[in-house]
This record gives sequence, structure tokens and C-alpha cells, in this order.
Amino acid sequence: MINIPKGTKDVLPADAYRWQYVEGVARETAKLYNLKEIRTPVFEHTELFLRGVGDTTDIVTKEMYTFRDKGDRSITLKPEGTAGAARSFIENGLGNGVLPVKMYYVTPVFRYERPQAGRLREFHQFGVEVFGAKGADADAEVISLADSLLKRLGLKVKLRINSIGCPSCRAAYNKALKEYFAPHLDGLCYDCKARFEKNPLRLLDCKEEECRKINAHAPSILDYLCPECAEHFEALKAYLALAGIEYEIDPRIVRGLDYYTRTVFEFVSDDIGAQGTVCGGGRYDGLIGELGGAPAPAVGFAAGIERLLLVMESTGVKIPEEEKPLVYFAGMDAECRKKAFALTIALRHAGIYAETDHMERSIKAQFKYADKIKAGKVIILGEEELDSGVCQNELQEGAMSVKCMASSESEKVDFSSAAEYFRKKKGE
Ligand code: HAM
Repeated sequence: MINIPKGTKDVLPADAYRWQYVEGVARETAKLYNLKEIRTPVFEHTELFLRGVGDTTDIVTKEMYTFRDKGDRSITLKPEGTAGAARSFIENGLGNGVLPVKMYYVTPVFRYERPQAGRLREFHQFGVEVFGAKGADADAEVISLADSLLKRLGLKVKLRINSIGCPSCRAAYNKALKEYFAPHLDGLCYDCKARFEKNPLRLLDCKEEECRKINAHAPSILDYLCPECAEHFEALKAYLALAGIEYEIDPRIVRGLDYYTRTVFEFVSDDIGAQGTVCGGGRYDGLIGELGGAPAPAVGFAAGIERLLLVMESTGVKIPEEEKPLVYFAGMDAECRKKAFALTIALRHAGIYAETDHMERSIKAQFKYADKIKAGKVIILGEEELDSGVCQNELQEGAMSVKCMASSESEKVDFSSAAEYFRKKKGE
């Protein structure tokens, strides 16, 4: 037998409605904030992520699914959604239209990570990107969208925010970080020694216990912000207050991608262990320019759908039950089952969720099956119905006996008015 690749998961038919629910709430929330959907390819030129995500990040150095295609191009399965959205924004000249450009996506994402609960190699993100607005109100808008989504899904999470400044204040901070870490170099892991040289900010992102102990006392970026970045951070706090959103300031958040400037944030749940970050994002004012576009400010976030579902499950959030068939047509014998088949299809044409037997079941077994799939009503077609002409033609008039599964009561319904009857039942 061929098994599923490590770090990937099937969404089975019985569970798909949970995904549809979360995606549906995400799409609805995006609409309330006037976002439109963007769909970009699952793979892009590798260069996009090297330049976009950053060549010292874990994602680029260790986790990308990169291969050469038959035309000998280096191709990478998207390890996140922002770079592709930014590429599309530039390539399609979206910046020449009305600003800001507000978009969202639902996409599979691929990272070669060590799989564990809430950490997969193929996972799914609901992501949001707003291009063209430089003010902190855009940051607060995006954070508010994430906050609305998480609340609508019934999640209790904490928002942590930080500012990692712009390249000019970052230079002073990087210098301070180097001064702080220099005497501790021997105690740092292999990766952090490289980070020290290439990108000291990444030192704060290390998951190794020893490195974490050392970086706990590192200087705070917030003490090194230039006046403009400090002002932007103050404005963000004021806008979050206007939106009624609570937050904690956490100067240790630097995020795992290199494109961020100024605002970074995460929504974290205490309910699913180590992989508690359900949503992360921030401002990335340099990315569009870095990728060759006319510089444009931008801000966004992405939420991991598997993690949202995990928190919902572990905290017992109830979601609306999946719709069940309104009616099941049971046939007493082979001839009646044929009629059941025809009438089921006729009702489906009229937009009614209907089911019938495809396993040559006995009438008793058909009832059991109707019960299992939680059909609301059962219509039994027997000789009497065939003889009476009810089943001769799906449009013909004639009363069928409709049995309610919950109450076991029956009532007579004309087939010609059956669609209307079931539509009403659905609304009850
Ligand atoms: P990220 O923090 O790398 O940001 O990922 C966003 C979310 O994806 C995380 O908060 C988490 O919920 C989920 N996630 C990440 N890795 C995994 C994994 N291995 N398995 C399951 N879920 C995972 C980004 O991707 C940025 N593009 C977000 C962004 C958009 N920033 C600005 N715009």
C-alpha cells in the first residue's frame, strides 16, 4: 500500500464541512472588510522567495520544496502566500489602480518542517494583504480583521504586537545585538553563529533552549526605534484602542520572514501547546520595491487553517451541523427502487437535498441507512404507489406517504408539490 507523505493530511469527506465552515467564515469576514480574493499559482520561480522571504530565514535555508522542472528552471512550491501576492500585484500593475488594494487568499502552503501536532509540511493558510496604505490605521484594520475572524470562530486568543523598525533604526539595533551576543557566541547553536554574522535579528527567533536563555536578556528593539517608527507604533496602539482590541506588547516577536518592517503581530492560543500561534503578520513596506516594483507600503497576515481547527476542537467550539438529506426515497423492490431513483433525481433538479438506495438493500436496511445519514423524511414506494400511478411520471399528481424519521408520523404529499413541501420543511 502507498501511504500519505509524512507531514500531510487528508481531509476526509466526513470532516470537510468543518473546513468549509472555517473557510466560509473567513471569506465572509474578508467581505465585511471589503477585500477581494486573489488566486496565485501553487509554485513560483525560486528567486521570488529568495528575494522575498529572505535567504537567511529558516524557510528559505531549510524548508522549501524546490526542484528543477523539465525546462531546467528552479521552481518552488509556495512556502507562504505573501510573496506570490506581491509578485502578482507588481506584474499586473495593480498599484496603478485605486488604492489601497485589499485582497485575501486561501491556499495550500509547503514547508519541509519536523511534523508535530499543528505543524505540517503541507498546510493551509487564510491570508490577507493590503497594498498601498502606509498609515497605522491600515495595520489596525488588518489586525481587526484577524481579530473579527478569530472571535467569529469562537476562539479565545491573545494578540501580541511589536515594532521591528525600518532599515535605518534596524542598523543601530543590529549593532546593539551584535555587542550583546558577541561574548555569548560560544554558547549559541550552529545556525545562530551564522545568524550573528548575516542577520542578527534572526537570533531572537531561535527555538533552541540554550539560545533562548541567552536571547532572553538581549536589548529590546523598542529602545532603538527611529522617531518615525516610534510614532507609527504609537499610532497603531491608538487605532487598536479605537477598534476596541486588547493587546500585549512583546518586544521578542521578530517573525520568521525577512520582509517585515515596523509592525509585527501574532495571535496566540494557550490551548494547543507549542504550536499556539494561529495567526501572524505585519507590515512589509520594502517588499514591493525589493521585488522590482514601484515601492508601495503593505501590511497583512496569515492564519493556519489546521491550527484554527485544532484550537476549535481542543476548546470544544460548536460549529453548525452539516446539512442532512431532507428526504430519502425507499423502494420496496427492484421496480420500486427504479422509481425511487427517478423521483430522487427529479427532486434534486428542483434543488432538494435527496438520497436513495444504490446497494440493493432490503426495505428494512434502507430505513436503517436513512437513519444513519440522518435523512429528515422517508418516502416508501411500494406496489400501491406504483399501481396508483404516483410513480408513473414524476410530474403526475398523486399522494405519497412521507414519514418523518424523528416523530414516525406520516402525512400525504402530492409529488407535484413535493419540492415546495421540502423547501418549507428545510426552513422550519
Ligand atoms: P507565518 O507566521 O510563517 O506567516 O505563517 C502564518 C501562519 O501559518 C502561522 O501563524 C501558523 O498558524 C500557520 N503555520 C505556519 N507554519 C505552519 C506549519 N508548518 N503547519 C501548520 N501551520 C503553520 C506567513 O506565512 C506570512 N506570509 C504571513 C503574512 C501575510 N505576513 C504578511 N502578510
